[in-house]
Amino acid sequence: MQYVNPSECEPFRAFLTLDVWAPSAAAITFSLQRGYNKNIKIMGLGCQGGPGNKLKGEIVMSKGIKILGFAGSLRRNSFNKAALREAQELVPDGANLEIFDLAPIPFFNEDVEAQGYPPAVAEFRSAIAAADALLLVTPEYNYSIPPVLKNALDWASRGKDSPLSGKPAAIMSASIGMLGGVRAQYHLRQVGVILNLQFLNRPEVFIAGAAKKFDQEGRLTDEPTREVIRKLLNALVEQAGKA
Ligand SMILES: Cc1cc2nc3c(=O)[nH]c(=O)nc-3n(C[C@H](O)[C@H](O)[C@H](O)COP(=O)(O)O)c2cc1C
Repeated sequence: MQYVNPSECEPFRAFLTLDVWAPSAAAITFSLQRGYNKNIKIMGLGCQGGPGNKLKGEIVMSKGIKILGFAGSLRRNSFNKAALREAQELVPDGANLEIFDLAPIPFFNEDVEAQGYPPAVAEFRSAIAAADALLLVTPEYNYSIPPVLKNALDWASRGKDSPLSGKPAAIMSASIGMLGGVRAQYHLRQVGVILNLQFLNRPEVFIAGAAKKFDQEGRLTDEPTREVIRKLLNALVEQAGKA
């Protein structure tokens, strides 16, 4: 088995590509099913290459990776919330994305914290702890991240048992502006250092000119953007599978 360039095997969304000799695709499928952990799902085999029965295929981990997503906008018709909903449809097979609404989380106050975490905060922290990975979707407010997102992260950052520490995470941003929230993303990455979030570096997903990329129902109609979100989620699931 060896890693090969996934582009050599176009039909597949490759996380791990196999390059093996076997009498048939069925034989490879059979041996993988027997030889590998049952949590690994075979998505497809084929892409015949070379003489004889040299086959290239792929396997995709599907151990039920749980992603928790939250958006830094409370606006009803938020583009960022819409992008997060869209991501729910674009997660790879075997993973699922649950959305947490940050609206009920109160403003951080150490006096309140001293009385114990408010219920919405406790729920948020538990949901993070239970997730294998996080997806943060944020607008840019005045070149930075909105207070609603920073506030939620501040609550989750507290204590030696912060559920954020070490968590694989990905970022997307949507903005009506031309830069798609790039400055907010880099501020968020800076915050992620102290939180010990394990942010993916790429692909970077900036949804610029968001007003033209979503329809009246809040559906993301821009296919290149859907594709890059798909790639981000694949990379996140792959990262979470290694953690
Ligand atoms: C207080 C405030 C500050 C903003 N600052 C920026 C900014 O710095 N850069 C930017 O691209 N858009 C900025 N915007 C515009 C947002 O991109 C736009 O309102 C976007 O729709 C917000 O995301 P949402 O649709 O998810 O609520 C700002 C909006 C608000 C309300």
